[in-house]
Amino acid sequence: MMSTEKQTVSRRGVLGAAGVGLAGVAAGAAGGIGLTSQQAEPAAAAAGSTSYPFYGTYQAGITTPVQDRLHFATFDVTTSARADLVELLTEWTEAAARLTQGRGAGELGPTSGSYDAPPDDTGEAIGLPPSGLTLTFGFGPSLFRLGGLDRFGVAARRPTALQRLPHFPGDNLDPERSDGDLCVQACADDPQVAVHAIRNLARIAFGRAAIRWSQLGFGRTSSTSTTQATARNLFGFKDGTANLKLEDPTGVDQHVWVPAGADPRAAWLTRGSYLVARRINMSIETWDRQPLREQERVVGRTKAEGAPLSGGTEFTEPDFALQGRGDQPLISGDAHVRLAHPDSNDGARMLRRGYNFVDGSNGLGRMDAGLFFVAFVRDPRTHYIPIQTKLARDDGMAEYLQHTGSGLFALPPGVQPGQFIGQALFD
Ligand code: HEM
Repeated sequence: MMSTEKQTVSRRGVLGAAGVGLAGVAAGAAGGIGLTSQQAEPAAAAAGSTSYPFYGTYQAGITTPVQDRLHFATFDVTTSARADLVELLTEWTEAAARLTQGRGAGELGPTSGSYDAPPDDTGEAIGLPPSGLTLTFGFGPSLFRLGGLDRFGVAARRPTALQRLPHFPGDNLDPERSDGDLCVQACADDPQVAVHAIRNLARIAFGRAAIRWSQLGFGRTSSTSTTQATARNLFGFKDGTANLKLEDPTGVDQHVWVPAGADPRAAWLTRGSYLVARRINMSIETWDRQPLREQERVVGRTKAEGAPLSGGTEFTEPDFALQGRGDQPLISGDAHVRLAHPDSNDGARMLRRGYNFVDGSNGLGRMDAGLFFVAFVRDPRTHYIPIQTKLARDDGMAEYLQHTGSGLFALPPGVQPGQFIGQALFD
């Protein structure tokens, strides 16, 4: 998969020698010389020199080994002209192709343009390497129809599964942290690089789209490659153990990519995916007062190693039938891993790619903290909504969680050179 191939190009080198930069982009476009993700070694990523091709069959930022940092943003389109929207997507595509290779957002860069015009790059990433930046774009339900209006002539091509997510038990959604016509997920190993990318896309969008809400994430709560160590969420537990990984292309094909013919209304979505975003606040102060036994019971895994409570080590399959003392199963009936497991959900799996967040405190001595849940699925009606419904109702963890933001977006497939992101929707 091209989107997971990586290259090692330095932004400093690229800025210093445009020819080298172009060679890097060309190599990325052809998928030629990059190391494959199977060869990904954390040491290179730590140096910040990793870059992922922007062009490819699938969008990058899905099976790409999860970077350390996130800046996620959604946008409201403020123009009602289809041509303006197409122009914006074209300009975003060109900027994303440059930014992900460690180059400036515009051709001229932060300091080389006219002295009498605003620079075409804002400058805070000067000297920073590509840092594994990926930019992943999606379309929300409101892009297709808003208040009964088909603003851009695409209503007939809305995928049937692309609806606002239903209200789940316990939801306390903030409308100012929910929905949006467009979404952009920026992931990088340096927060400044991720923020720079979103800032420049927002700057380019001026007069055509405006940021609706955005979220920073500072620590990955998942892994999407077997080359990555399992990270921990703010409950202190390993997260991502049983996640779909890029080394399992059959699993990814079955559960993440939209197959050809899936929806006659939306052939443009073939080889795309759906992105579910949920801002989930965690009552960490309450959690921190729970005995270790209770914490492990709620998750269904040990805190130290992340092994299932039925025994074994981290990657041992849980045995949900195994009985402990009395007639109680070792993994309790309301444990998170039991209810989220494919065995409880008609075999459905998802590719999770969430991040920890702390957005200050709430003035009552509690942190505004949690997990910004991001998952990629081939169909939210089978792979997300039933699972979230079950978790919201029965999960022992739900007592410590509150969902405060939400969004569902359809992600077009990867872009080919000369095209713009989502072009098939507008053809
Ligand atoms: C703050 C909220 C959440 C926390 C702290 C959390 C934590 C965890 C932990 C510790 C695991 C076990 C390790 C692993 O396999 O990754 C896990 C597994 C999992 N979680 Fe969550 N989770 C949260 C929300 C969600 C939500 C909203 C969903 C989906 C609707 C979800 C779906 C899953 C799935 C599918 C698994 C793998 C189950 C398996 O196959 O064994 N989680 N989660």
